[in-house]
This record gives sequence, C-alpha cells and structure tokens, in this order.
Amino acid sequence: MPIQQFVQDFFEASSGEPISNFHKHLRREIDHFFQAHKHGRQAEWDELIQSLPNIATTNIDLNHSHIRINGQETPDDLESLLKEFTPWRKGPFNFFGTIINTEWRSDWKWDRIQPHISDLSGRAVLDIGCGNGYHLWRMLGDGASFALGVDPTRLFLYQFHIAKHFMPEKPAYLLPLRSENLPRFKLFDTVFSLGVLYHRRSPIDHLTELFSFLRPGGELVLETLVVDGDARTILTPVDRYAKMANVWFLPSTSALEIWLDRAGFRNIRTVDINQTSVEEQRSTEWMTFHSLAEFLDPDNANLTAEGLPAPKRAILIAEKP
Ligand SMILES: C[S@@+](CC[C@H](N)C(=O)[O-])C[C@H]1O[C@@H](n2cnc3c(N)ncnc32)[C@H](O)[C@@H]1O
Repeated sequence: MPIQQFVQDFFEASSGEPISNFHKHLRREIDHFFQAHKHGRQAEWDELIQSLPNIATTNIDLNHSHIRINGQETPDDLESLLKEFTPWRKGPFNFFGTIINTEWRSDWKWDRIQPHISDLSGRAVLDIGCGNGYHLWRMLGDGASFALGVDPTRLFLYQFHIAKHFMPEKPAYLLPLRSENLPRFKLFDTVFSLGVLYHRRSPIDHLTELFSFLRPGGELVLETLVVDGDARTILTPVDRYAKMANVWFLPSTSALEIWLDRAGFRNIRTVDINQTSVEEQRSTEWMTFHSLAEFLDPDNANLTAEGLPAPKRAILIAEKP
C-alpha cells in the first residue's frame, strides 16, 4: 500500500466534523503534493512499512520523555527495520524496548513550552511543521482531543505512520503539506509553529497564516530562533546560518512581538528564551550526520561556524482576539 493511502485515516476520522468542510481542498493539495514531489525511496519505504509487526499493545505512555509503547512481545528485528528510516531527528521513542535516541531531545522543548500554554484538554490542535509528529503525541498526552500536523518532508510522514501503526486509535494525523497550502480553517483551539518561522522567506505571511487557522479566542504557540537586541534588531544571514542555507530572518523577541501584533495577535508574551545546547541537539546512532557541535565555532560555542550568534530559541504565546 503506498503512503498516499495512509493519509486517508485523517479523512475517515474527521468526516462529519467541521474540518470536513475543507476535505475537498486538502485532498486536492495532497494529490498535487504527491504528483509534484516524487521521492526516490518511496517504493522501498512503502514496502518496508508493510513489514512492521502487529503486536498487541499493553501500555502507551504519551506523558514522559519517550513516547513509549509496550506490548505482549518484544519483536527481534524491529531495530533494523526502524533504522531503514534514518535519520531520526525528533524524539525520543521507545517502541517495545527499542529506544530511538534521536538527534534532538524534543522532550526538552516540550518541557519549556508546556507550563506556559492553556490546558490542552479537549482542544483541537494544529502543529505546523511537526516533523515526525513527536509533539503531536505529547499534545494528546496532555489531553488534546484531535491533533493534526502538517509537514512536507516525506521521511517524517513514514516515521509518523510507524508510531501510528502501533497506536491506530489515537487521534493524531499528519498531512504532507506546507502551511502555505492550507485553507483558512478558523477553527483550531491551539496552533503550534515550532522551529518553522526562520525557514520562511516571508515571516509575516507565516504569522498571518497561523492567525487564519485559529478560532477567535484561540492560542498561538510560536517557537523560533531569535537574537539579542532591541525592537529594531533583526538578523538576516548573508549566506548560511549554522551551516543551514534556508534561514532567512532572526528577530529579537521585541521585534517578533511587533510582527505578531501587526499580524493581529493580542496578549503577546515571550515566555522562554534558551540557547540550544550540544546536549539537546547532537549526532546519535539514529542520526549519524553532523549536528550542532559541528555547526558552531570550534573555539567559541557562543558563535556559529559563520561567526554569527549561536542558536537561541524563544517561545512566544499570543491570542487571536
Ligand atoms: C526545525 S524542524 C522543526 C520540527 C518540530 N516542529 C520541532 O520543533 O521539533 C522544521 C520543520 O518544518 C518543516 N517545514 C519547513 N517549511 C515548512 C512549511 N512551509 N510548512 C510546513 N512545514 C514546514 C520541515 O519539513 C521540518 O520538519
């Protein structure tokens, strides 16, 4: 079964819900996505994902660092199958005793976010640029009733569906789309954009999109790279930033608060600022490429390899009036 079939779970689960008004639009965009973006490993991954074992689950834990699934058996060859889907960047996971030690301790980001946001109990949440969906599972763990993620990276769609294979009844869904391709839902209670804004050439357009996904009174949770400075300080890298070619704008938190205000948000608060450590983002046996340590100046951990301020991330909360 090709991965295209997997995304049908979203349409089946949400038929009759208010979001079904947008099904036609979403189906069209997803069809276009798969036609426009062929992936060289799709046939191989489609076959591999079929060989995941069917194991009776005894316990699922979505409330601690590892997304942990226990079962009645411990499959022998799960680790080698999961390693066919490397690099694993966001996590960690523990599937039946196989621990996926991902590049990122994404649980640390959640620990910085979670104390500051509205209680997710019963809320419909949207996670833009959700990667493999690690935080979607944590949102369900904190009570969200429906967790939809969008992310255009094909590998992450497979990684998400590996987790979903073991917990099909959980109401988390991932659509292979960019936020630019989404309709103006105006219905989500909480919208998350974590680690996406700096990848956008037009950051205020991104904030305007996020605004349009929320219902009135809904909450935005925004996490992005920032620099120190006043309301006039915005860094645009001349070329690469921490060896990434797709980083466009790093504002100060004061400048970012102005952007949010101009996009229509109110009650805007910066609730956390954190310089990313080489313990939080690092190479592991599940992500063997270079990581943060190699992206920094070897003689000064406060500078990137290009001599720019090292990655510092802020979390901002805001409301749609
Ligand atoms: C730095 S990762 C952040 C992943 C996750 N949100 C987190 O904070 O751990 C950025 C993600 O955004 C996705 N992305 C990039 N541009 C996007 C866009 N325009 N719309 C939706 N997702 C996007 C990428 O595929 C990638 O998975």
